[in-house]
Amino acid sequence: MSNDAKILDLFKDAPAEEPVAPRAERKIRVGFIGTGGIANSHIKAYLQFDDVEIVAGADLVDGKADAFFEKYELEGVRTYTDYKQMIAECELDVVSVCTYNRQHAGPAMYAMQHGLDVLLEKPMTVTLDEAVELCRVEKQTGRILSIGFQPRFDPNMQMIGKIVRSGVLGKIYYIQTGGGRRHGIPVGRTDSFIKDDTAGVGAVGDIGCYSLDMILNALDYPRPLTVSGYTSAFFGQNPAYYSAHPEYAERFGVDDFAAAFIRLENDIVIDFRISWAMHMDTAGDTIVLGTKGGLRIPSTECWNGTVGGPMKIYTESAGAQVEYELPILPLKGLGRVESKVRSFLDAHLTRGKAPVPTSQIIINQAIISGIVESAKQGREIKIEIPEI
Ligand SMILES: NC(=O)c1ccc[n+]([C@@H]2O[C@H](COP(=O)([O-])OP(=O)(O)OC[C@H]3O[C@@H](n4cnc5c(N)ncnc54)[C@H](O)[C@@H]3O)[C@@H](O)[C@H]2O)c1
Repeated sequence: MSNDAKILDLFKDAPAEEPVAPRAERKIRVGFIGTGGIANSHIKAYLQFDDVEIVAGADLVDGKADAFFEKYELEGVRTYTDYKQMIAECELDVVSVCTYNRQHAGPAMYAMQHGLDVLLEKPMTVTLDEAVELCRVEKQTGRILSIGFQPRFDPNMQMIGKIVRSGVLGKIYYIQTGGGRRHGIPVGRTDSFIKDDTAGVGAVGDIGCYSLDMILNALDYPRPLTVSGYTSAFFGQNPAYYSAHPEYAERFGVDDFAAAFIRLENDIVIDFRISWAMHMDTAGDTIVLGTKGGLRIPSTECWNGTVGGPMKIYTESAGAQVEYELPILPLKGLGRVESKVRSFLDAHLTRGKAPVPTSQIIINQAIISGIVESAKQGREIKIEIPEI
């Protein structure tokens, strides 16, 4: 077989699917904390599994949890405005924490302290301090805490790790990543993404966490050393951006754009940018440069945590410069969100490891918090993650 054929052969097949745990005899009792937008994708996934019983839901807004479960024609589900009361009364096994970012750490810690396993939405938290506290509670309680990064279950995303780990790129030294939307400040259905007291971070946390995970996961999460970050909010704070709803500009208290230069251990640097709004179609493809090869991962027009087109490997063969295109892989079996939920349920059943573990995502969070802090201080800062 020629060298060229050998390289392509390495990446022909989608990674094998994870084995699924045997179903429990008793149904897994599921609760929801927060029944807004993303809770819909969680409940649709849970409803596909016959070993699950949707028992209860809590939302701060009176009546919201009732309306949520009625939409799915679920009867007998108990509803609350206070998640602590729900946990006290409902004998739950697991909860999906689907609250806005500022309400991630508190409910997730409380649930673990009361014996529940937790599927927590992304970004893990707003600050690194909160993330550290959360990880300590996870360790003390021995509960399972998985973070809601569904792109992890996309075979194309998994292929990035397979390529990097295969060694075909050699030693990785530079990554350009990020993503962007031209006009995509998430507002309308809710304003919880744009306010400081609910979101805490803007584009850098909301979609930046995906870009970072795409690349850091492929590199097996090296430790970050320093970051020089920049954030801005020129669109979010401009009433003209919203046409019919200029009032959002006053509520806008987070970033709509961020850029950063991040140094990682093993002499790797990341050149990062992310945008909810900008005068540009995309913030550029992700490129990974190594000593033996390069990888281009096409960006999506509206960054959504997927690969935007066939990836390309650039390398040399017999002294010639060659390129290999990797076709987009179709999803096999469960969808991304269904896999995120099922893998969490399987970890709960088997007392296995969290499918998207905090030991990795705390690094993602440390970089996001580092970008925000460095931008505030206007200088490069060290990233230090305390012992858990
Ligand atoms: N994985 C994904 O694809 C994805 C997609 C969208 C959003 N998200 C994440 O999900 C989270 C929620 O986003 P959303 O679009 O559902 O927002 P949302 O504003 O529509 O819903 C959040 C809900 O949480 C409720 N809530 C907040 N604090 C609470 C508390 N302490 N107790 C009970 N209820 C509480 C709010 O009242 C609201 O109904 C965000 O962190 C976001 O980043 C993830």
